[in-house]
Amino acid sequence: MVTETLRLYPEPPILIRRALESDVLPRANNLDNSVQEPVKVIKGTDFFLSCWNIHRSPALWEDPEVFDPERWRKPTPKHLVDAYNAGRSGEGDQRHWKGYTPDLSTLYPNELHADYAYVPFGAGPRKCLGDQFALMESVVMLAVVFRRFEFELTGKHDPLSAVDSDIGTPLPPPRTKWTRRVPHPVLIGHAASLTPY
Ligand code: HEM
Repeated sequence: MVTETLRLYPEPPILIRRALESDVLPRANNLDNSVQEPVKVIKGTDFFLSCWNIHRSPALWEDPEVFDPERWRKPTPKHLVDAYNAGRSGEGDQRHWKGYTPDLSTLYPNELHADYAYVPFGAGPRKCLGDQFALMESVVMLAVVFRRFEFELTGKHDPLSAVDSDIGTPLPPPRTKWTRRVPHPVLIGHAASLTPY
C-alpha cells in the first residue's frame, strides 16, 4: 500500500543531479515510438529527473494511473520489457532494462528491484539514507492511526490533479473525513480503560 502510494505520489517528485563530467545519455524510445537520439551532456549541467513521470510512464508500468497495490506481487509483463528494450537497441547502448522483479526476501520493493523504474528514495550513492526506516515508520504510523480513526473520501479523487505547492509536493489537498473509532479518553473520563495507542 505504502509502496504503491509512493509510486503515484513520490515526495519529492523530482531528483536533482549535476554532471561532474561530460557524458552522452543513451538512445531512448519515446512513447510515440519515435527514437530520442543520444544526448550530449556538458560538464556542470544540472538535471531534474522526474520520479513523477518515471513512475507514471506507460512504457514502464501497466495501467500506470491505476492505484493497484497488488502490482508489486507480479513482475513487469514481458511485452512491456520487450517493447522498452526494442527501442534502445541502438549502437553503444548495451544495457537491457529488466523491469520489476518481486523479491520476497526483502521487506519493501526498492529501486533495484524495479531496475530504476521506481525511485521514490532516489538511487545511487546519494539515495535516501532513511528509506527502510521511513517505510517501517509509515506502516507503524498508519496502523496506529487506523486503529483510532475511520476515514471516508468526501470528494472525487483525481490522481492527475495539478501540483499546487511552493515545495513541489504532488499530493492534492486532502478530501477525507475522519471519525474516531473510540471516544476521546479525556472527554469520557475512562482514560485508564483505553489502550495507549
Ligand atoms: C517517506 C519518507 C522519505 C522519502 C520519500 C525520502 C526521500 C528522499 C529522497 C528522494 C532523497 C534524495 C535521494 C537522491 O537524490 O537520490 C532523500 C535523501 C535523504 N534522506 Fe530521505 N526520504 C524519506 C525519509 C527519510 C528519513 C526518515 C530519513 C532519516 C532518518 C531520511 C534521510 C535522508 C538523508 C540523510 C538524505 C540525503 C542523502 C545524501 O545526500 O547522501 N529520509 N530522501
